[in-house]
Amino acid sequence: MSYFKNKVAWVTGATSGIGEHLVYAMAQAGAKIAISSRRASELERVQAACPKPEDILIIPLDVTQIETFPQVSEKVWNHFGQIDILVLNAGISQRSLAKETQIDVDQRLMAVNYFGVIGLAKAVLPYMLKQQSGQMVVTSSVMGKVGTPMRSAYAASKHALHGFFDSLRAELKNDNIAVTIICPGYVRTEISINALTSDGSKHKKMSPGNANGYTPKEFAAKAMKVIAKRKEEVYIGGKEIMAIYLKRYLPRLWSYVVTRIQVT
Ligand SMILES: NC(=O)c1ccc[n+]([C@@H]2O[C@H](COP(=O)([O-])OP(=O)(O)OC[C@H]3O[C@@H](n4cnc5c(N)ncnc54)[C@H](OP(=O)(O)O)[C@@H]3O)[C@@H](O)[C@H]2O)c1
Repeated sequence: MSYFKNKVAWVTGATSGIGEHLVYAMAQAGAKIAISSRRASELERVQAACPKPEDILIIPLDVTQIETFPQVSEKVWNHFGQIDILVLNAGISQRSLAKETQIDVDQRLMAVNYFGVIGLAKAVLPYMLKQQSGQMVVTSSVMGKVGTPMRSAYAASKHALHGFFDSLRAELKNDNIAVTIICPGYVRTEISINALTSDGSKHKKMSPGNANGYTPKEFAAKAMKVIAKRKEEVYIGGKEIMAIYLKRYLPRLWSYVVTRIQVT
């Protein structure tokens, strides 16, 4: 994992699940890291659990507060003097039927999962262009490639990321800035507990799919390898990954299957 040694990473969604364990894995591999999410006390806990807490900068951030992005990006840049890897990972999920979901819940999912992500990418991009190097790592989902019942707005927000970042990757072809989109299957995190229901309240339940998925530590170990290889798009998960290939190669069959599967 020499790729990460002395690199500066910035990880959003760093207080739980995938983001938290990516922080530990990158810190173990010798990276210096800015860690962001809303809960400052949880950021302190994650900082203290890293091998060299003095290499971890706490940057509390709500990704829906887009107007704060230029200022916080400058803070990270001024502290480390470089930003090599931006991990755009903060996100929330959904557990509700489209017909019952209030429009402000759809908007909230887009605000966190799409505008919060591309907004921070745009704020950090000038620094990566200045240094003529960098990597954006985007946590999408299997739902960024297919849509299933109970995930309409979540799937929409993740699909949108692919459109934006595929375009950005092409625009950056001469700037030595990579774009890596990671699509997780089920991972055992807080995602289903924090997922929004039709009225915006939290689901508050661990879905069986997540309960039986990779641990976030296992997931982070796999993600580290694809980040180091600067891959463009990868799928990490169990048999749920098959949905992506089924839709791509046998779309009519997928349209049938998606009405029959139990989505938890
Ligand atoms: N777990 C899975 O099975 C799975 C599958 C596919 C994709 N994903 C994606 O993986 C990413 C990480 O999710 P996870 O599974 O690790 O879930 P998680 O355990 O719920 O962690 C979500 C993280 O996002 C942060 N966050 C949420 N809203 C935020 C906001 N408005 N501003 C800043 N930070 C915010 C949370 O921190 P605070 O509450 O402290 O702000 C937390 O650190 C998400 O993008 C998710 O869509 C997960």
